Amino acid sequence: MIFSIASSLLLGGVAGYGYLKTNGVTNDADKIQRIFANAGWTKKEDGETKTIRLRRRRKIENGMEYVYQLPLGFDRKKVDTDVLADGLNTKKIAFDITKVKFNKDILKQIKQLKGVKANKQVELDFDGMLKIRVYENDLGKEEWSDGLLKGGWKVPVGKTQQGKMIYHDFDNRKHLIVAGATGFGKSVAMKMMITSLIMNKPDDVTFSLIDLKGGPAFARFKKAKQVTEFGTDNTEALEIIQKVKERMDDDYRKIVEGGFEDVIEAGLTKRHFIIVDEAADLSESKESLRLLTDIVRKGRGAGYYVIYATQYPTAEAIPMQIKRNIPARLCYVVDSSTASTVVLDGAGAESLPEIPGRGIYKNVKQIILQTPFMSNEQIKERIKPFEEEKHELPRTPSTEDRKHTLVTEKA
Ligand SMILES: Nc1ncnc2c1ncn2[C@@H]1O[C@H](COP(=O)(O)OP(=O)(O)O)[C@@H](O)[C@H]1O
Ligand SMILES: [Mg+2]
Repeated sequence: MIFSIASSLLLGGVAGYGYLKTNGVTNDADKIQRIFANAGWTKKEDGETKTIRLRRRRKIENGMEYVYQLPLGFDRKKVDTDVLADGLNTKKIAFDITKVKFNKDILKQIKQLKGVKANKQVELDFDGMLKIRVYENDLGKEEWSDGLLKGGWKVPVGKTQQGKMIYHDFDNRKHLIVAGATGFGKSVAMKMMITSLIMNKPDDVTFSLIDLKGGPAFARFKKAKQVTEFGTDNTEALEIIQKVKERMDDDYRKIVEGGFEDVIEAGLTKRHFIIVDEAADLSESKESLRLLTDIVRKGRGAGYYVIYATQYPTAEAIPMQIKRNIPARLCYVVDSSTASTVVLDGAGAESLPEIPGRGIYKNVKQIILQTPFMSNEQIKERIKPFEEEKHELPRTPSTEDRKHTLVTEKA
């Protein structure tokens, strides 16, 4: 039996065991109101201070939702999840009461217990009213299971605080940008997506996998029959992107000539995914980037979908043209609100807890979620049935070679 006690009570002396209460002692709504006041989240109007007012509250899965009305003209960007979470997670002492000896040393015993912070998570939402959701427990990690698959072009991106699995449907939302500091789950997420797509659509999906950090992330898929192109440096990337773009142009022409708007209307079942890990390195190659931008623009209709991942969310690493054409984003923790703004067009990802796989998925709204973890062993098992020996395709002549031929011809 674990009991918890607010530390302020403890400092005041343990006046009696009657104070020991399960699950904390203070009301979050009151605390939030105090945080508003202390943080100065108010609005002065005609010499009067208008405050944020609680309108209603309701119980939600794993917590409570508080709905507030903001004073007219109040800048809601001032309301900060970190400040709220800090205020709500005051230190508590949790201990196993069966291990406490009820003798005159009780105070000493309790003082030796280490304080633990409550682990409430705060989520903000705004739809005319400010919604503050306070979750009692952190999401925790989420393990992979095949039951998560939903078929089609849908892949799971993560579970929300309220226990709902969110999917990215490539046929609906098309491309995806994945960002986040190194070590927080980008490659794991992409490997899980590749495996999911292969499991969902083994005969219809094909991939061009480009990993500009030498290929460690995607090498395990190299033998899968669905992987038609595999590149690990800028030269290979350019060749692949050129080839894919030509194929896409062909396919797109056929779709349009058939009088259709896109691959879905044309009833075509094949889709091709170009997945670029560590894509910031692509920006060194203007031509690659230009072609990829074209694929991103036309690929939506042609059934060529791009996943663009980078650990450096800067304006250079995610060029405007790419961003504008990829509204869906999956962002793990980043080091600054500037980086978060590059990816999500708003702050937030910098204050995610430093848990691998914890991210924000932005489709229309931002949703905090935990990406299911598929281990390399799990991937191996699932990919094995699709592995085949591949003959190295003759490499298309590189641009260097072509230049050379041109020069000799002229000469
Ligand atoms: N969704 C997840 N759940 C649990 N652990 C994860 C998750 N994603 C990543 N990790 C852990 O973090 C490590 C780094 O993840 P990785 O995807 O390689 O990071 P990145 O590509 O962003 O640098 C993994 O090896 C794994 O141990
Ligand atoms: Mg990685």
